[in-house]
Amino acid sequence: MKKIKSGVYGLNRLMDGGINQNTITAVIGSSGAGKTTFATYFLKRGLEQGEDAIFITLDEEPKQIIKEVIQMGWDNIEDYIDDGAMVFVDAGGKQFSDFIKNELSGFVEDWKGYNARIVIDPLTPVLWSVTHRYEQRDIVSFLLRETRKIGTVICTLEEHSVMGDLSGQDLIIPMYLADNVVHLRYKSHESPEHRDMKIIKCRSSRHSSFWHPYKIVKGSGLIIQEASLAEDTPRQVVDLSAKLEKALTLIPASKKKNLSPSILRSITRTVDMLSMEDIGVLDPDYIIMQILVEYDLIDK
Ligand SMILES: Nc1ncnc2c1ncn2[C@@H]1O[C@H](COP(=O)(O)OP(=O)(O)OP(=O)(O)O)[C@@H](O)[C@H]1O
Ligand SMILES: [Mg+2]
Repeated sequence: MKKIKSGVYGLNRLMDGGINQNTITAVIGSSGAGKTTFATYFLKRGLEQGEDAIFITLDEEPKQIIKEVIQMGWDNIEDYIDDGAMVFVDAGGKQFSDFIKNELSGFVEDWKGYNARIVIDPLTPVLWSVTHRYEQRDIVSFLLRETRKIGTVICTLEEHSVMGDLSGQDLIIPMYLADNVVHLRYKSHESPEHRDMKIIKCRSSRHSSFWHPYKIVKGSGLIIQEASLAEDTPRQVVDLSAKLEKALTLIPASKKKNLSPSILRSITRTVDMLSMEDIGVLDPDYIIMQILVEYDLIDK
């Protein structure tokens, strides 16, 4: 299976190189865990390399999402929308089950042959749009089967149960149907800035089975740390831009073709927005390395 880079720094190596193309990934987490951020940076990454992006929103209006995305540091999102490479499907408010039954197939037909990344954020209300469990399974299964025909899908699931408990009724069906499941959580309610994530499943790939700390950072989205490299206290201040510059000189000749001017601009902007305060306990060298891994500029 072909792997695509997830757009989430530090995630690819935990999933054996990235997300398998044309699969479904469920991202589970309680409110504020970072699901939408995860999903938007997944789309951003595809757009940067010429793929298309479809954002199916059930909760927030596209206008609001775009506003929040810009605040989170993805400041040229509107260029992609104007170009037509990124589209929003505002499925909030309407009978979502009707949309799936009556309009989805036509939508998929229109997008046939495209190489898209698709986000369904959040998927949870789709389950609520029908009454019976067998209908829930049918509708979610149909939605996921159809959307994967046109690309690689991320759907987000709201976690309403006790923190860390994945046996909730709303989670079982989509978790079962998804190829990959990622769980984002707060380590504790007392310190919401401490978050960690775990890969619950990843079909046809070796994957990490540990909890890994992550941060949500303006300009970068989620940054996931290798668990064994985590420290308890914030790091000493270092010059991140200088670190990037040095790292860029070490890119092997065979990878240099991947450093197009637009990718270089994107990486430089990301690192410019990073502050030591943002990265906290994460390892700056590791972060720089994961940014280069994401853009296939180094192997590990
Ligand atoms: N500009 C920013 N810089 C750094 N972190 C931010 C910024 N904006 C938002 N965040 C963090 O991201 C979190 C929200 O992430 P996100 O919207 O992705 O969560 P979510 O899981 O989708 O939540 P919900 O279930 O409510 O939709 C905020 O709680 C905040 O901690
Ligand atoms: Mg959200």
